[in-house]
Amino acid sequence: MSRSNQGKITVPGVRSRKGAPEKLVALTAYDYPTARALDQSGVDILLVGDSLGMVVLGHETTLPVTLEVMLHHTAAVVRARTRALVVADMPFLTYHTGAGDAVRNAGRLVQEAGAEAVKVEGGRARAEIVRALVAADIPVMGHIGLTPQAIHALGGYRVQGKSLSQLGDLLEDARALEEAGVFSIVLEGMPARVAGLVTRAVSVPTVGIGAGPDCDGQVLVTHDMLGFTATAPARFVRRYADLSDIIAEAGRRFAADVRSGQYPSERESYPAPAEMEAELDRRLAQEDVAEPRR
Ligand code: KIV
Repeated sequence: MSRSNQGKITVPGVRSRKGAPEKLVALTAYDYPTARALDQSGVDILLVGDSLGMVVLGHETTLPVTLEVMLHHTAAVVRARTRALVVADMPFLTYHTGAGDAVRNAGRLVQEAGAEAVKVEGGRARAEIVRALVAADIPVMGHIGLTPQAIHALGGYRVQGKSLSQLGDLLEDARALEEAGVFSIVLEGMPARVAGLVTRAVSVPTVGIGAGPDCDGQVLVTHDMLGFTATAPARFVRRYADLSDIIAEAGRRFAADVRSGQYPSERESYPAPAEMEAELDRRLAQEDVAEPRR
């Protein structure tokens, strides 16, 4: 697989990166300009995560995100990317109700929005659905550990895999997904050594988030790493920018310029054609037209 900036990242290309010295790099993207900038930055995977429900739409969980919302955002990301692989999250209840629904809904993300793969949350319980999607030629990324769509079942956003029995469950989940045909697996919210063991147990690349350094790749929610969220970042988030501060400061400067009359300047305004100037001067000099119309 070509890994130059020119080479399009594909599902088999990602699959072949298992154990590679250069880690897979994934970030979430939900809109055209962000996807364009991240694609240009050389990330391998743009994940249209249902985290958009929280970081873009202001919901408390990912559960309110619908398939229509995912179609809308995925299509915008697809229009922007030239190189990265676009993976779309299947939202809550779009694959839990059976293989037929799952294939139809994933098919819409591929056919209507242009996603190249979908991601589903859950392990052994999703194996049959993953098999049906793969049989329909829809590549699937798995997601185990802290699975946000199971927030109520898990009792909160808690680190998973903190006992030997949970480690056993994670290993079985990962192997079941591998056997069902996923091309990679997101490992979210688990101790680093647990993620390392799961990574070694499967032949497909793992992509970690809050899962330590031993995964085959890393993913972050872009709004977290850009400092563009309202809440304090989780322990595993490294901030590469402070966009909230930058945007608030830009807003303050704009407001000050408008209120002080410094914006817009002459250079930022359109001149009237020269032949109109004399007539405009004459009319503006008349009191009745100098007053704004009400
Ligand atoms: O929705 C999302 O952004 C995700 C990542 C956190 C992996 O699933």
